[in-house]
Amino acid sequence: MSDVQKRSVKAPTDESRGRRVVVGVAGGIAAYKACHLVRDFKEAGDDVRVVPTPSALEFVGAATFEALSGHPVDTGVFSRVDEVQHVRVGQEADLVVIAPATADVIARIAAGRADDLLTATVLVATCPIVIAPAMHTEMWLNPATQANVTTLRERGITVLEPAHGRLTGKDTGPGRLLEPHVIAEMARTVLATGPLSQSLSGKRVLISAGGTQENIDPVRYIGNRSSGRQGFALADVAAHKGANVTVVAGNTEELETPAGAEVVRVRSTREMEAAMRERAAEADVIIMAAAVSDYRPEHEATSKLKKGQANEDLETLHLVENPDILRGLVAMRDAGQTQARILGFAAETDQPLEHGQAKLARKGADMLMVNDVSGGKVFGQPRNSGWLLTRDGNVAEVADGSKHEVAARIWDAVERFEK
Ligand code: C5P
Repeated sequence: MSDVQKRSVKAPTDESRGRRVVVGVAGGIAAYKACHLVRDFKEAGDDVRVVPTPSALEFVGAATFEALSGHPVDTGVFSRVDEVQHVRVGQEADLVVIAPATADVIARIAAGRADDLLTATVLVATCPIVIAPAMHTEMWLNPATQANVTTLRERGITVLEPAHGRLTGKDTGPGRLLEPHVIAEMARTVLATGPLSQSLSGKRVLISAGGTQENIDPVRYIGNRSSGRQGFALADVAAHKGANVTVVAGNTEELETPAGAEVVRVRSTREMEAAMRERAAEADVIIMAAAVSDYRPEHEATSKLKKGQANEDLETLHLVENPDILRGLVAMRDAGQTQARILGFAAETDQPLEHGQAKLARKGADMLMVNDVSGGKVFGQPRNSGWLLTRDGNVAEVADGSKHEVAARIWDAVERFEK
């Protein structure tokens, strides 16, 4: 499809005024979760307008949305006609997010209908549009819905993948609404970095995330401050770009596991190594975002080491070096055991670019994301920035942004590298 046929998306608003966010709500049981979404945008300082479909108001009353957003709520194209509301709401929006989007509203948008205020708003809006579907699995998988979703994506609308899980009633499967904070995060990412297309469709992506832990005895371990956020954000974004995603996760904060990704839990470096190597052959892209413990205690005590008993094992830990997982994966690639592109991470506290370049050469990866972690930056923090280095000597600065935004920029760079 040519660019002319796609929706032309206007540039994001200047930062000086609050962004105008339209939260569209369609008539599904998950409509109550839209309340949390409205709160999320409001807390971020956005000016939120809720536009429900008439059937959404069967689930949540207009008063709730009015109180949460601070704006009146209308559903039809004939309310406030003097203000030409059916055109103005869409024209003034910086972002439109529809959550939950039912099969019906997706069909009406795909057909270009404008039979209520929400669909009229979508038809007028030139800002980024993000749709979070929620419906029964059969409806989601129906060829009619899938064709409509493809149409919307071809027009530059971001349709997020629904989560798998418990639906209303006893059934489980794809069709559950993503958690509101994930929808908000993905929508902000789209606003900052552009629509998410299905450009990773058919690709198998293997990502390590979090920190490894090495046992000293049954209660103590050596660990690090990795939260797993960047690795999970990479998985989230890849899944919404259509990839088949596996995450091998060490210790992570209480993070929502990325919807649509298979998550394999490990603890030690050697467990992570085994899990990554086992899956490397099938992968098209491998990202080592985990903070791997370089050393482990030579002996793991089977019972708790006691202090005050001149316990040599506690006073002097004898450490042995762990395998370098990244190097091992590069060796597999060089031996023709995997065709995957391999991207590593480097956390540096001084001269990040020089150290990063030397590390890329040493490790033999295709790409390296270098973070400046001096002064407590990055680890456990919601934001990230740095430089992306490629084997052929390219250096691209990755602007400061949320870890999801940085993830979207990393995927763009990986896809460019593939070409
Ligand atoms: O050498 P350094 O730890 O700075 O390298 C960081 C990169 O190497 C990261 O991608 C990390 O996941 C990976 N790594 C590894 N195995 C290790 C140490 C680091 O795969 N033992």
